[in-house]
Amino acid sequence: GAVVSPTSLTTYLAAPHALLSVSRVTGDIEWLEEDVSASALQDILAKHGQAGAVDLVELKTGEFLMPGFVDTHAHAPQVPNVGSGQQYELLDWLTNVTFPMEARFSDVEFAKKAYPSVVQRIVDCGTTTCCYYSTYHLESTKVLADIVHSRGQRAFVGKCNMDSNSVPYYVEPSVEVSMANTRTIIAYIRALPAPSPREPLVHPILTPRFAMGCTPQLLAALGALAHADPALAIQTHMDENAGEIAATRRLFPPASLPPPPAPPPPGCAGRGTYAGVYDAYGLLRANTVLAHCVHLEEPEVAIMAARRVGVAHCPTSNFNLRSGCARVGMLLDRGIKVGLGTDVSGGFSPSMLRAVQDASICSKVIAMQAPPADGDTGFAGQQLRVATLLYLATRGGAEVCNLEGRIGSLAPGKAFDALVVSVRDGAGNPGVWGADLDDALGMGTPGREGARWKTEEDELRGHLERFLFCGDDRNIRRVYVQGRMIGGKEFRG
Ligand code: GUN
Ligand code: FE
Repeated sequence: GAVVSPTSLTTYLAAPHALLSVSRVTGDIEWLEEDVSASALQDILAKHGQAGAVDLVELKTGEFLMPGFVDTHAHAPQVPNVGSGQQYELLDWLTNVTFPMEARFSDVEFAKKAYPSVVQRIVDCGTTTCCYYSTYHLESTKVLADIVHSRGQRAFVGKCNMDSNSVPYYVEPSVEVSMANTRTIIAYIRALPAPSPREPLVHPILTPRFAMGCTPQLLAALGALAHADPALAIQTHMDENAGEIAATRRLFPPASLPPPPAPPPPGCAGRGTYAGVYDAYGLLRANTVLAHCVHLEEPEVAIMAARRVGVAHCPTSNFNLRSGCARVGMLLDRGIKVGLGTDVSGGFSPSMLRAVQDASICSKVIAMQAPPADGDTGFAGQQLRVATLLYLATRGGAEVCNLEGRIGSLAPGKAFDALVVSVRDGAGNPGVWGADLDDALGMGTPGREGARWKTEEDELRGHLERFLFCGDDRNIRRVYVQGRMIGGKEFRG
């Protein structure tokens, strides 16, 4: 059937008649033949030594296979809050809407009720890898990790660290308690049995909520833990909102900061900035995921590039909480890894499709307000095209998670983390844009007189664009992680 997969920030494979082999044992992709006619099928299987040894799955017209989405930033305990408190900016939203909901997860029974449907909802939206924040509660975070693990989703699960500047009923009591629970959850997640012969799917991630929510002592302790454990990923928020940035600068004046454990490369000190705070505590490195990064100053971009951090671009949330438009094109031009994040419930949709759509709109806003200068050939100031949006939602996210060798595209040696998408009306999302409407209007079959598409490849590219901009979870028929079906409309279990 048809296969779509990103090949670079500006190109993607669209192969209407591909054949892809997945190992039943490992769940990895063994090989991919990009152009296979029905008559050559048996010959190709024989060439790979697999004649008679395969379960053949044939996709229908209007269906295609693509890599699963990587949501680089989502708050599992906020999903029950989607669509409430939409009038607030960040700090009031945290106080009035978010902290009250998260506080309820002190009750592990509440977590056991909420998290199964949260995770299944996110999986059914096509998210095969998710960077989750839970709350600061140890037992509820274990519940989230258990559910993600038993569901078979690939994920990072982090217990928040937050011991200051919160509401009195939702704040960690001390650095010691925060760190002890952090060490416990990291060990707990690492001890979950790996479901495949290859590798664990669920990873711990250090999660200082944001600088202003942590005392300097807590940030120092987290930095020491990170230093002792270089493989441990880190996630946090940065430069999201003007009020947050002002508070952070007030709380962490440069004179109060320790020297960074690794000296910054010349020309990118970053001191006196938000990024400089994290860098001082050794929290910026190649496996750090920084959400938002809306209001960046040049020294911050320099230190981010030097430390090789990844950015979780969360446009739905950045519009919704009126935070601003992140300059994704500029970040890409600087070689900084960028993925997309839903940031539920700052973002009001758990679907990465919404993040894709808003990433497009955000880039168009920037293109209107700050178009590229004459002679600029990069991404800055340009609207993001479909190839780039696809890349950010899949492969860019994989890079941000440092999993680019395993996921993010459909290629031999990578895990089969994939979606079967259908753009037929029969998928249950009729009328608006369906391929069946094209047929009814005589615009369907490519190459025919009056057809919308010249070739089958054009048609597949058109179907991808429509799915990204007009699709929803009804179009996602199957969701696979490591070769195992774990969600989608056809999933029963
Ligand atoms: N900054 C600190 N906590 C949060 C959160 O939960 N959501 C968002 N969007 N920003 C934050
Ligand atoms: Fe967030």
